Amino acid sequence: TAIEKGNYRHFMQKEIFEQPTVVAQTLQSYLRQADNSIALPQFDFDLSRVRRVTIVACGTSYYAAMVAKYWFEQFARIPVDLDVASEFRYREPVLEDGGLALFISQSGETADTLAALRHCKEQGQTIGVVVNVPTSTMAREADLLLPTHAGPEIGVASTKAFTCQLAVLSALAAHMAVLKGLMSPEEEQRVVEHLLEVPACLNSALDRDEEIAGMAHLIAPARDVLYLGRGPDFPLAMEGALKLKEISYIHAEGYASGEMKHGPIALIDEHVPVVVLAPSGPLFEKTVSNMEEVRARGGKIVLISDREGIAEAGEGCMATIEMPRVHPLIAPIVYAIPVQLLAYHTACLKGTDVDQPRNLAKSVTVE
Ligand code: G6P
Repeated sequence: TAIEKGNYRHFMQKEIFEQPTVVAQTLQSYLRQADNSIALPQFDFDLSRVRRVTIVACGTSYYAAMVAKYWFEQFARIPVDLDVASEFRYREPVLEDGGLALFISQSGETADTLAALRHCKEQGQTIGVVVNVPTSTMAREADLLLPTHAGPEIGVASTKAFTCQLAVLSALAAHMAVLKGLMSPEEEQRVVEHLLEVPACLNSALDRDEEIAGMAHLIAPARDVLYLGRGPDFPLAMEGALKLKEISYIHAEGYASGEMKHGPIALIDEHVPVVVLAPSGPLFEKTVSNMEEVRARGGKIVLISDREGIAEAGEGCMATIEMPRVHPLIAPIVYAIPVQLLAYHTACLKGTDVDQPRNLAKSVTVE
C-alpha cells in the first residue's frame, strides 16, 4: 500500500509528528512493562562479556551512535570506538578478539556501513545491527538484530528513524549496565520509567511547533548557523546542523560548546545565529558562560532548554524554545524535536524541496 502524506504538507513533517507513536512502539519491544525491566531479543551471545564496543554508521545514524557512546561509557562503563563508516576500514582499526561491533542504519543498505560490517565479520567480530528496514541486507547479515520500529521513512532527511535508534540504544546501554552489575534492579526500573515518559515528552516538544515556525525568519536569512551542545547533547548539535544543511542549504556547524572558543568564535557576529541546546543540569553553568562569550560579540542566540534553564539564561536571547524538564538520559531524544522543526520550518520558508533536497539520496549505495 502506498504511503500517504495525509494532512501533512511533507513526508518529513508527517514523520516528525509520528515520533511519539513510533518511539513508543520501538520502546515497547525493548521494555517489559510488567516489571519495568529491559528485555532484549534472544541472542546466542553473552553481552556481559563485552569489554569494548565498536560502532560504525553514516549521517544521522552516526550522530545516534555518538549519543550512544556517551551512554555506553557512562552507564555500562564500556569503552566505545566510534567511526563514520567511510573512515573505519581505512584507519586499520584494532579490534578486540570476540568483540562486539554495532552498525546503525535506517535503510540497512548504506554501502560504506555495509562494507564496514563485512570487514568486521571477516575479523571475527559479533555483528549487532540497529536497523529500520527489517528486510535489508544489514538485517540479514546481523548476529544480533535490534530493529527500530519507525516504519517506512520517506523524507530524505532522517527524523523518526533517529529517535527510534536512540530509543533502542538507550535500552541497550542500560541493559549492558545491568548485566555488568553496574545498575541495580531498582535503578533499572527507574531508567525504564524515564524511558516510558519519552513519548509524552516528545508530545510536549511537538507542542512548540507553531512557535518554532514563527522563528524560521530568524534563521532563513543567515549564511551560517552555529549549533552548540555539551555531553550527549553535543551530537544533537551536530544533528541539528546536519538537518539545517540538508534541507535549507544554509551552512551550519555543530560544535561542542566548550570548543567554540577554539575557532568558531571567530565567526560570530550579529549575522550568525547560534542555536544552543542546553537542558538544565550539572553542565548548564558552563554553557551559560559560552553563551556570554557569544553575546559579548553581538551573537544572536536561540536557546533550547527547560523552564529552569530559560529562567536562568534566557534573558538577552533572540529566542527561546522551552522543552519539558527531563532526565539527562532522555534529553537527546526529546531535544531532537526542536532541531528538526527549526530546520523544517526554515526550509519551508526558503521554499526548498524538503522531502527531496538537491544532491542527496535517501540511501547511499555507492562507496
Ligand atoms: C543518507 C541519508 C541520511 C542518512 C544517511 C545514512 O545520507 O540522506 O538521512 O542519515 O544516508 O543512512 P542509513 O540508512 O545508513 O541510516
